[in-house]
Amino acid sequence: MSNVTLADIKANKKIETMIRHSNECLEAIGYTDHGPRHVGYVSKIAGNILEQLDFDARRVELAKIAGWVHDVGNMINRKHHGMLSSVLLLPVLSEAGMDFEEVCDVCSAIGNHEEETGQTVSDISAALIIADKVDAHKARVRLKQYNPEDIHDRVNFSIKSTSMNVDKKNRVIAIEYAMDSTSSITEFLEIYLKRMRMCERAAKYLDCTFALSFNGVRINM
Ligand SMILES: [Fe+2]
Ligand SMILES: [Fe+2]
Repeated sequence: MSNVTLADIKANKKIETMIRHSNECLEAIGYTDHGPRHVGYVSKIAGNILEQLDFDARRVELAKIAGWVHDVGNMINRKHHGMLSSVLLLPVLSEAGMDFEEVCDVCSAIGNHEEETGQTVSDISAALIIADKVDAHKARVRLKQYNPEDIHDRVNFSIKSTSMNVDKKNRVIAIEYAMDSTSSITEFLEIYLKRMRMCERAAKYLDCTFALSFNGVRINM
């Protein structure tokens, strides 16, 4: 076990450059924000999930690291970016001083975070999937490019706040969205259903249920 922390990884210049390049590539092709706001949120939530479920501190730190670096593969291509992230990161995380077992754990989780090909393969993987897939928020819309005809922009723009609650006793991981009338729950599900189903499976891996609510009403009983 190494003692490389999220703070060390955040200070790594190569990783910082890869995150910036990935976000710029996605901006060029019209995707929502994948910069420090998104990866910071995913890092924080992935760590919180394992922390609240009493995983040991090192697993929590590795989930935070996985969250921070998971999307760097977008600088190569959007398609299969999770797998590309893993391949890019394996030497970079090793060079950063992480234990090779830990590098493999983090890379396996990252290579499985996309809904097209990913499956929950570990505790870190489950936390990363949930943290990444629930990140719908108005702050992800690039205002210069906001297009009300685009369903992704409409749905993200309608989400005014999100809150995640992990109830260890009752084994529930709950996400609550505050949504306004810019979009609707059915539009949300049109683009996020596969991701929400992926969250349900990831929660099950952690021996929890995944509760999805909008404006106080749970929709996946
Ligand atoms: Fe991703
Ligand atoms: Fe992501």
